[in-house]
Amino acid sequence: MDTNWIINTIGQLANIGDGERGITRLAFSDEERRAKEYAAELMRQAGLSVRFDAIGNVIGRLEGTDSTAKVVLTGSHLDTPPDGGKYDGVVGVVGGLAAIKELMARGPLTLPVELVVFTAEESSRFGYATIGSKVMTGLTNASSWNRVKDQTGLTLKQIVKDSGLNLAEIKGAVRNRDAIQAFVELHIEGGPYLERYRHSIGIVEAIAAPTRLRILIEGQAAHSGSTPMDERKDALVSAAMIVLAVQDIAMEHAHQGTVGTVGIMRVYPNAMNVVPGRVEMGVDIRGVDHASIIDTIQDLKDAISTIADGQDTPISIDVLASEKPVKLDDSIALTVEGVCNDLGLKYSRMPSRAGHDTMNMAKIAPAGLIFIPCHKGISHNIEEYAAPEDIVNGINVLTETLYKLAK
Ligand code: GLV
Ligand code: MN
Ligand code: MN
Repeated sequence: MDTNWIINTIGQLANIGDGERGITRLAFSDEERRAKEYAAELMRQAGLSVRFDAIGNVIGRLEGTDSTAKVVLTGSHLDTPPDGGKYDGVVGVVGGLAAIKELMARGPLTLPVELVVFTAEESSRFGYATIGSKVMTGLTNASSWNRVKDQTGLTLKQIVKDSGLNLAEIKGAVRNRDAIQAFVELHIEGGPYLERYRHSIGIVEAIAAPTRLRILIEGQAAHSGSTPMDERKDALVSAAMIVLAVQDIAMEHAHQGTVGTVGIMRVYPNAMNVVPGRVEMGVDIRGVDHASIIDTIQDLKDAISTIADGQDTPISIDVLASEKPVKLDDSIALTVEGVCNDLGLKYSRMPSRAGHDTMNMAKIAPAGLIFIPCHKGISHNIEEYAAPEDIVNGINVLTETLYKLAK
């Protein structure tokens, strides 16, 4: 395994969208496109045949000796949240290519192997995640993309069009489930457990699913000097109460693995001398226990309705995404476990608390997700770090897993 090439390539990708506070390659941005083109060029250099599908997923293919055989897929994404890190998604793309290069050096495999760089995995831009893999698995279609907007109000439909993609062709990116043998993704854990337990590899058994709410609070904008305190309809006060409600309710459900976050708040008119008249907020609820997620959301809806009445600020809730936790394939987990044992690597079976393209791929193929530790569990942050030896361990496990699946 060429560690220098791996670390250097991760470094090259980090130059695309590099800013003072982190790396920003938002979904469908020019930076994401450039990163995908860079990856496509690396795949060509490695000898893969490369195509872009109708949603801009990059697919590099290594032929097997049986041209009629099902394909083994691996891959991840190259978009980031605002001010993100170097490793989220990147490890699975660069690692996937390093693994395929290693397999090529060993000689022909029976099954073809493909590396996918999924478009638009992160939810940061639209509150709607894993768009490339949702398209690939038929879980979304362009007709619903008028509802999905970025922070500037541009619809996903418009942005996809402006990226030069043809909406009428999107369906052509859907893969036939009968043609896929397996999907395996390599990714940083994005949380603290592997490092804490000093385990090299996480074998993911289930992926937490996000529910995302856009909440609109209607107060009344008013003069911040002359409006008496007991005559205000301050939308930001209601918003603050909702932030605390999310925190309290998620804490009550935390023992079931459920978490809740308010990550977006927009205040209107956002002026020092005006009582806030309107607030939009984004809430992200996740967990691996579906019943607990449903209870959390119901408790939150009840709390929001009490706040709306008490503060006399009508509040509407738009459910942007409501996904179910996804169970991954047992036999692939067993294969990965066997590989870890063969390589003498300590591993944990664990859930993934972050979302990944694997959760969509699992709907059409036996799917597995392999984690490596990331320092202090920090992710979606410039401080995100995975040590070279952990990355190489992860790639070795991915290589041997792909080998067993495709040989
Ligand atoms: C992906 O990074 C997520 O937000 O789960
Ligand atoms: Mn991420
Ligand atoms: Mn990711």
